[in-house]
Amino acid sequence: MANSLLILTGHSQGLGRAILDEYLQKENFEILAISRTCLGLDFSQLKEISLDLSDLDKLEEILENLFPKGDFKEIHFINNAGWIGEIKPVGKLKPSNLKKLMSINFLAPVYLTNAFVEAYQSQNSDRIVCNISSGAAQKPVSGWSEYCSSKAALAMFSMVCEKENTHSGIRFYSLAPGIVDTAMQDQIRSVDETDFPDLERFKSYKSQGALFSANSVAQKISFLMSNPTRFEGVIQDVRDFDLT
Ligand SMILES: NC(=O)c1ccc[n+]([C@@H]2O[C@H](COP(=O)([O-])OP(=O)(O)OC[C@H]3O[C@@H](n4cnc5c(N)ncnc54)[C@H](OP(=O)(O)O)[C@@H]3O)[C@@H](O)[C@H]2O)c1
Repeated sequence: MANSLLILTGHSQGLGRAILDEYLQKENFEILAISRTCLGLDFSQLKEISLDLSDLDKLEEILENLFPKGDFKEIHFINNAGWIGEIKPVGKLKPSNLKKLMSINFLAPVYLTNAFVEAYQSQNSDRIVCNISSGAAQKPVSGWSEYCSSKAALAMFSMVCEKENTHSGIRFYSLAPGIVDTAMQDQIRSVDETDFPDLERFKSYKSQGALFSANSVAQKISFLMSNPTRFEGVIQDVRDFDLT
């Protein structure tokens, strides 16, 4: 039987690390994992690439030869790398941070997805692209104008991809993972309240144990990727999942 393939960005910590662990337990999955940090894990099926996804020139340079060639039984691509950016109200934003955030959260996933479709559109295997979005793609949060906008753009991009690619059989999802207990939430809780009026609410999610564990969310993402016929529609939210 041919191997299956996972391509995963942002695997070095948080949700991405939990997704990586989930797939390392599966048989027959080759894994290509991309973050700035390589973990140096000793698994023959894992290839790690150190890449700063905000460096779009470098990404473009390596894109043509990035994705493994060959016939795969299934190909899963999870665009998970993300950055909350600088939490500040409009009027106090720094253009350099905005460029970096849009590159990581939106443009790099677009570059990668474009290359993915080009590379694998004529294969007969089950191919699924899952762009990790956020509830913030639909809900405005003060101080998060850059982040909300980047995730909304990624969600729309995912919907257009799905509309265009019905003939190639590639499925596309834009998935909100819920509020997950990762370094991103640590960063959100460390911001000054004058820049982020919802600070106390986010602190209370942590103190009341309301955050999802990265492992529990990774299991749900893995379930979605293995059971796409059970998930109609591009926009998905793990909080709506029924795994029974
Ligand atoms: N945590 C939440 O509550 C929450 C809620 C909604 C959506 N999300 C989304 O879920 C995804 C995962 O977030 P998380 O909470 O796990 O965040 P995290 O703990 O901060 O991890 C972010 C991951 O993205 C990678 N990354 C960041 N900047 C990068 C860059 N310039 N180039 C390459 N990789 C980069 C990081 O690796 P390196 O630092 O090694 O590069 C890391 O592996 C993100 O897309 C986030 O927007 C999270």
